[in-house]
Amino acid sequence: MDDLRDKYIGLIAGAGDEATLEELRVQAVGKKGEISLKMRELGKMTPEERQVAGPALNALKDEINSALSAKKAALEDAALDERLRGEWLDVTLPGRTGRHGSIHPISQVTEEVTAIFADMGFSVAEGPQIDSDWYNFDALNIPGHHPARAEMDTFYMHRAEGDNRPPHVLRTHTSPVQIRSMEKHGAPIRIIAPGRVYRADYDQTHTPMFHQVEGLAIDTDISMANLKWVLEEFVKAYFEVDDVELRFRASHFPFTEPSAEVDIRCSWEGGTLKVGEGDDWLEILGSGMVHPKVLQNAGVDPEIYQGFAFGVGIDRIAMLKYGIPDLRAFFDSDLRWLRHYGFSALDVPTLHGGLST
Ligand code: DAH
Repeated sequence: MDDLRDKYIGLIAGAGDEATLEELRVQAVGKKGEISLKMRELGKMTPEERQVAGPALNALKDEINSALSAKKAALEDAALDERLRGEWLDVTLPGRTGRHGSIHPISQVTEEVTAIFADMGFSVAEGPQIDSDWYNFDALNIPGHHPARAEMDTFYMHRAEGDNRPPHVLRTHTSPVQIRSMEKHGAPIRIIAPGRVYRADYDQTHTPMFHQVEGLAIDTDISMANLKWVLEEFVKAYFEVDDVELRFRASHFPFTEPSAEVDIRCSWEGGTLKVGEGDDWLEILGSGMVHPKVLQNAGVDPEIYQGFAFGVGIDRIAMLKYGIPDLRAFFDSDLRWLRHYGFSALDVPTLHGGLST
C-alpha cells in the first residue's frame, strides 16, 4: 500500500496537464484501477485482515482523490495566470489618433431627412420590423389576393406546426407605421417614419434589407398642393439646391387615391448626377392622398380628415446624393468603404449648420 501511495502521489505531483491527471485517476481509482482491484481482494481476506486493510484502502483512496483535485486546481490556476500574463493590456497607453470611426451614409441621410422634416413640423415615429400581415398589408388596403403582395417578395415568418393564424412578415415597407401612428395618436397628425424594410431581392440596386422613410400628414384641410410643396421643399433642402423641378406621374398604390410617383429634373452629364438641371428625370418616391379605407382601418374618420403620404428609399437617395454606385457595399462593413463614404461623427446635420458639411 505504501508503494501504491508513493507511486501515485509522485505521478500526480509530476502531471503537467489535466489530461494526464485524468489518466492517472482512471489508473488508480477508476473502476478497474489498481486501488479498486485491491478493494475487491478484501472479500478473500479473513475478517481480522479485512478490519485492518479495509479502512487503510479507503484512506488511501481518499488521499489520492484529494491529491488529484488539489493538483487539478493548481493546474487551472497556472493556466489562468498564464492567460493573464499573455492578455495583459496597458490601459494607460495613449489612444491611436487618426483612427476614429465614421457615421454610415444611411445614418447620415436619415439624420438629414429628419432635420428637414422636423423643420416642417413632422415628428419621428417608429414601428416594429416584424409585423402582422394586417399592418403590413390588409390595413393598407392590400387584401390577400392583391398582386402587390406577390410583387413585394415578402419574407414570411414561420408559425409553429398546427398554428393556422396568418404568419407575421418582415415588413416590406414603412407604410404600416402610418396605421400604428394614427391608431395611437389619432388625427391631426404629422409624422415621418424612417427604418429598415425587407424584401427578397438582390442585385446592384437591391439588397434584402434596405431603408425607407414614410411621411404622413393628416388634417381637415390637407390637399395634393400641400404634398407638392412639402416634397419640393424636401428635395431642395436634401440635394442642397436652390431650385428643383418635380414631375408628378399618375401611378397606383392601394393605400393612396390618387397616387403619384415623383420624379426630379436632373442631368447625368459626364456620368455625375446634377439635380435641378438637364433633360433627364429621376424617380425618387411614391406618394398620394391617403385612401379613405386606410384612414378608417386606423380609426380616423375619413368624412372629417384627409391627408397625404409618401415613401422614399433612403438608400436610393443616399446613393444619388453621394455618388455611391453599388447598394450592396452599404452593408459589407468594409472599413475602407466606410472611411471613404463615412461622415464625421461631430458634424450633426442641421438646417442652419449645413446638412452634409
Ligand atoms: N410603400 C410604398 C413602397 O414601398 C411606397 C409608398 C408609396 C409609400 C406611396 C407611401 C405612398 O406612403 O403614399 O413601395
